[in-house]
Amino acid sequence: MPEIVEAAESQRPMPSSGDRQPLVRVESLRKVYGTSAAERVVLAGVNLEVERGEWIAIVGASGAGKSTLLQLVAALDTPSSGRVYFASRALHSMKEEQRAEFRRRSVGFVWQRHHLLADFTAAENVAAPLLVDGVSHGEALRRAGELLDQVGLGERAGQRAAELSGGERQRVAIARALVNRPELLLADEPTGELDEGNAEAVFRLMEQLHESRNLTTILATHNLALARRVGRALILERGLLSPVSPDFGNSPAARAPETARGERG
Ligand SMILES: Nc1ncnc2c1ncn2[C@@H]1O[C@H](COP(=O)(O)OP(=O)(O)OP(=O)(O)O)[C@@H](O)[C@H]1O
Ligand SMILES: [Mg+2]
Repeated sequence: MPEIVEAAESQRPMPSSGDRQPLVRVESLRKVYGTSAAERVVLAGVNLEVERGEWIAIVGASGAGKSTLLQLVAALDTPSSGRVYFASRALHSMKEEQRAEFRRRSVGFVWQRHHLLADFTAAENVAAPLLVDGVSHGEALRRAGELLDQVGLGERAGQRAAELSGGERQRVAIARALVNRPELLLADEPTGELDEGNAEAVFRLMEQLHESRNLTTILATHNLALARRVGRALILERGLLSPVSPDFGNSPAARAPETARGERG
């Protein structure tokens, strides 16, 4: 396959065995920002396979490209080159209309900043994707209420988002991401702005939802300790993904993602 860049050769995905198809398959994915005179290669030929039901974590320094990668998997953005498949569907060659449909039906996205509508209630925020999808107001609010119960916020359904704590807002954001019953949950640093206790609580909630809703989950995080608690932890460095080694971040000399900043070029 001559089009595969040399740097990616060492981490090419294993061929899928038999009929078992990963839910997410990323091949030779490149994302380059800027002009040819001032290029910023963020993803340099990423390969990744995520099986149905799997939960993976992606760590990496700030600016490493974690959000960029998640947004490409969510079909929120288009690659410079390379391929992204969801089951057998080629997201990279879909038209915007199909990509929007894919996003509405199959993906839940928890943003790095929660992006809730401050003046709307928790329930209205969670119901919003259903309303966009044409579900009636009453039914959308009923389902939003159910989801808020599941994330432990049933009592706060009528509270404006602006009046919720950071941890509560992230719970609402998770409920909103799941209200369309997606197969895939993409969570971009969902605990990044929370204190340790709330981060732990949100992580446990994600664990519970991952199991109970049969999700496939990709979590981007700076938190190496949380990343190690999921099925598989990968690190994004110099535009490529590789497994986090067991001793990574343990020795003082190791550059943990939290400290490996300032090398963006
Ligand atoms: N639309 C854009 N135009 C130009 N450059 C961009 C754009 N989006 C992201 N970048 C650059 O791409 C690089 C990767 O950004 P990204 O947000 O994916 O990193 P990240 O790993 O998510 O970082 P963080 O941990 O801080 O969230 C950064 O250098 C960023 O400035
Ligand atoms: Mg990010």
